[in-house]
Amino acid sequence: MTQDELKQAVARAAIAYVEGDIIGVGTGSTANFFIDELAKIKHQIKGTVASSEATAARLAGHGIPVLDLNDVAEIAVYIDGADEITEQGAMIKGGGAALTREKIVASVSKKFVCIADGSKLVDVMGKFPLPVEVLPMARNAVARQLAALGGQPKLRVKPGSDEAFVTDNGGNILDVAGLAITDPKGLEAQINQIVGVIAVGLFAARGADVCLLGTPDGVRTLAY
Ligand code: 5RP
Repeated sequence: MTQDELKQAVARAAIAYVEGDIIGVGTGSTANFFIDELAKIKHQIKGTVASSEATAARLAGHGIPVLDLNDVAEIAVYIDGADEITEQGAMIKGGGAALTREKIVASVSKKFVCIADGSKLVDVMGKFPLPVEVLPMARNAVARQLAALGGQPKLRVKPGSDEAFVTDNGGNILDVAGLAITDPKGLEAQINQIVGVIAVGLFAARGADVCLLGTPDGVRTLAY
């Protein structure tokens, strides 16, 4: 099976976790497969809250209502991919640059269902460079502090240029390589303390409740 077929399989399996009127929807290629599946049952839900402009556009393209989070009191379930996930449900996210809105939508959702192909499961996170969204004026100041923590921060650039990539929120992203993340909650708290950081792509304090992992033998369910 290809990686895309594994992603499609978990996206299909995630439909069984759809509950309540409003669904939180993540960002990335796996989340896109989920949106395509959600479109098939869109009459069963009232609407969605999107974690990025790209996700909002794809949902709208399917005729699925996209609501402002400020108008939503409760989200039963948030469904999203991950760049790395541990057996304990902690994740690195943000490869698709949507980490801040993903974290916000996840924080108001009762259940987080992570959907990922099996290659994302790791013992210790950090092989995938940790994305940190920063205010543009603070990017060098924050980078120095991330280096002091032992990482090698690199400014994310627009594809095919050396201009800084700009997120949906007007932020920049530092991708931090070289961290062996043995204490995900501790590191998340430490990076959150750095002035100028908008959000860190470590989802440990609020990790996944369920992970659907795509493997050649079928979808494996990890519940935390
Ligand atoms: C976007 C994310 C994605 O969930 C993560 O990058 C995984 O992406 P994909 O499903 O394309 O492998 O965090 O900010």
